Amino acid sequence: MIANNIHSKYLQSVNNLSQRNLGLTGKNPAVACMIVDYSKSSEGQVLSYGLTSIGGSPHSEVNALNKIKKNKITNKTVMYVSLEPCMKESDCCAKRILKSGIGKVFISSLDPNPIIHKRGLNFLKKNNVKINLAPNYLNNFKNINKIFYHYQRNARPYVTLKLAISKNGFSKDYNESNITSFETQYYMHKYRLTHDAIAIGYNTYKEDNPRLSSRLNGINKNNIKFVLSKINKKLKKNFNMINLNYKDDPKIFLQQLKNYPINSILIEGGVSTFNYFYNNKIFDEIVICQSAKVIKSSKKRYKLNLSLLKKNLKLYSSITYGEDIIETYKY
Ligand SMILES: NC(=O)c1ccc[n+]([C@@H]2O[C@H](COP(=O)([O-])OP(=O)(O)OC[C@H]3O[C@@H](n4cnc5c(N)ncnc54)[C@H](OP(=O)(O)O)[C@@H]3O)[C@@H](O)[C@H]2O)c1
Repeated sequence: MIANNIHSKYLQSVNNLSQRNLGLTGKNPAVACMIVDYSKSSEGQVLSYGLTSIGGSPHSEVNALNKIKKNKITNKTVMYVSLEPCMKESDCCAKRILKSGIGKVFISSLDPNPIIHKRGLNFLKKNNVKINLAPNYLNNFKNINKIFYHYQRNARPYVTLKLAISKNGFSKDYNESNITSFETQYYMHKYRLTHDAIAIGYNTYKEDNPRLSSRLNGINKNNIKFVLSKINKKLKKNFNMINLNYKDDPKIFLQQLKNYPINSILIEGGVSTFNYFYNNKIFDEIVICQSAKVIKSSKKRYKLNLSLLKKNLKLYSSITYGEDIIETYKY
């Protein structure tokens, strides 16, 4: 039984720890692993932990195993890992665990990738490693790595539409470049961190000259950057053109993304770009940051029809950030 015992606590800890490198592990999920020794206490003592490395490999199990000496592993050593260990013909986590001598592994989640699914788990079981799989209700790993799960299930990137608007719905202020507070903008950079790519319309590129980087303290992430336009235009370094027309089937857009190693994309406006994806139902999540300020000097074309959006979609979450409100909508 895993529920309500010490094992469930360690599993929750590895799930939470999985968030540490979220957005930094490339096409791989962000996984965490802990190795715990029960020889001295029934509460256990953590010998080491590992995370999926930045870029995706080595995996968390290998990183955790590499931190401890082999003679520290006894029959009282247990591994907790938030995703089932990978199994391949070549070197892989399941084989490394078997070689380490660890006899008991608690797993939070199965790998949704059909090539990997249950292979690591069955390999370890066949070789007499005791496996415990967490029940679904103990498993927030799937939610933490929702982008990875989405990609595996749908074979297309997770699409998030994001727009900042004023209290009266405008996405552009001629008097001031920012609509929401500095704190909200900083907070919103986490969306750039958790997405692999960012796209903007050509007008935003031309008028705002954005950097589109994840400017979070201590984080250095280079998202793949896209600009949408119907014709090829010269762009600054590290910006990629995607040719798209308002009349185009959005499948054309998704098709072009296949050339890039991405699981997710954040569409950051402007409102014309937002409306194209919204009207064509190409999104998994919409994030609206609404400030308390009223914009007097804007144009009708920059206004978002928020009441229609609220009518068509379900409010998924809402947080207040200073004077701003950040709301997430889904179908
Ligand atoms: N508040 C916010 O969150 C936010 C975010 C971003 C921008 N903005 C503001 O919004 C302003 C620009 O907004 P905007 O609505 O005029 O333009 P936009 O959405 O930034 O860009 C529109 C342009 O993108 C190109 N495009 C090509 N295919 C498209 C498609 N399928 N869907 C959409 N666009 C496509 C077109 O350029 P071509 O004509 O070259 O084909 C189109 O004219 C900026 O000044 C910026 O300050 C606000």
